[in-house]
This record gives sequence, C-alpha cells and structure tokens, in this order.
Amino acid sequence: MYGIINKAIEGLVTENFGSEKWDQIKVQSGIKEDRFLSNDHYEDATTYQLIGAASQVLGISQNEILLAFGKYWILNTGHQHYGTLMHAGGTSLKEFLLNLPNFHSRVMLIYPSITPPDFKVFTITDKELHLYYYSTRPGLTYFAEGLIVGLAESFQETISVVLLQQRVGERDPDIFKISWV
Ligand code: HEM
Repeated sequence: MYGIINKAIEGLVTENFGSEKWDQIKVQSGIKEDRFLSNDHYEDATTYQLIGAASQVLGISQNEILLAFGKYWILNTGHQHYGTLMHAGGTSLKEFLLNLPNFHSRVMLIYPSITPPDFKVFTITDKELHLYYYSTRPGLTYFAEGLIVGLAESFQETISVVLLQQRVGERDPDIFKISWV
C-alpha cells in the first residue's frame, strides 16, 4: 500500500499515545523503515505488522485499532489533507455512500497505482441502505466500519452500523447495514 496509509497509522498513534509508543511499535513490528513516504509503495505486510504491533504495545485489539484508524482516516487524514476530494464526495452521508463506488477513481489521480476497494450500495428504504465492500485484502472489515462511522461523524449524522456478513474470500463482500435513527 502507499506510504500515506502507514503515515496515517503513525499519526493516529502519536496524536493519541505519544511518539515514544510509536517508537516501541516500530521496534516491535520489526520494520526497518525509519519513516514512510506518502507516495512510495510498501508491502501490505508492513501495514499488517504495524497494526499487529500497535495492538500488542497498546493492549488494544486489532479490530479496535482498525476501527479507530478508519475514523482517523476520514476525520484527520481525509479532511485535513484531501478536503477538496472529500467535499466532492457529497454533502450528506447518504449522498457520499451512493457516490462511494466511484470515489477511488478520483483518488487514483493522486495515487495512480492503488489497488482500490470496490463498493456496491443498495437502497433498502429511506432510512436504510446496505453497503457491500469487496477487497483483495483480508482483515480490513473493521477499518471499513471505522470509515463509515467517521463519515457519519463528519456529516454530524447519527447512524447505526450492523455487520450483516463478513468476508470469507476475495469474492465475498463484507455487508454493512447502515440505518439512520
Ligand atoms: C480522502 C480521500 C481518500 C484517499 C486519498 C484514499 C486513498 C487510499 C489509498 C492510498 C489506499 C491504499 C490502497 C493502495 O495503496 O493500494 C486506500 C485504501 C482503502 N480505502 Fe481509501 N482513500 C480515501 C477515502 C476513502 C473513503 C471515503 C473510503 C470509504 C468510506 C475509503 C475506503 C478504503 C478502503 C476500505 C481501503 C482498503 C483497500 C482494500 O480493501 O484493499 N477510502 N485508500
């Protein structure tokens, strides 16, 4: 994945727990890089190792970290560094989610060789939709959930998110039921 992802994990950790914890996490992960460059490519394994090490050092489950990372990605990385892109996504959560299937094609103007996620959206009722998240990468279910929660927060909307189905293989989506309460 692009280095921007690993840099954002660093931001999440240092802003919430301090830079000493981040140094411990890097040592624990066994990763040799001293710092990450946003536009450089790193093995996916690097990201997974950082999440695993963060979980061990901070004593928080990997799912909790992924959830927090998803929120951080929207509320900090997204809004602080890619405001125009985020703005273009929509003016409400529903509009943003309906546009989500095309979102990463605009991201690809900045990061041309990403392996983007794939989304499908099904409107169930006025107050409920189902979001299908397809990924070539395993284990990112709670990152996606954190992204949804972060988006809702950024639009100041109250929602509930229920995981209806969890990805088993590459062809199976995570399915989230999103309802406005
Ligand atoms: C601020 C705008 C955004 C930027 C710049 C961005 C950029 C990226 C980048 C660089 C990656 C790593 C992929 C790679 O390097 O191969 C990624 C992955 C991902 N992004 Fe975005 N993204 C943005 C917003 C969003 C939003 C709003 C969502 C969904 C609500 C989202 C969902 C995901 C997911 C789930 C992945 C994991 C990839 C996978 O499943 O394989 N992103 N994004």
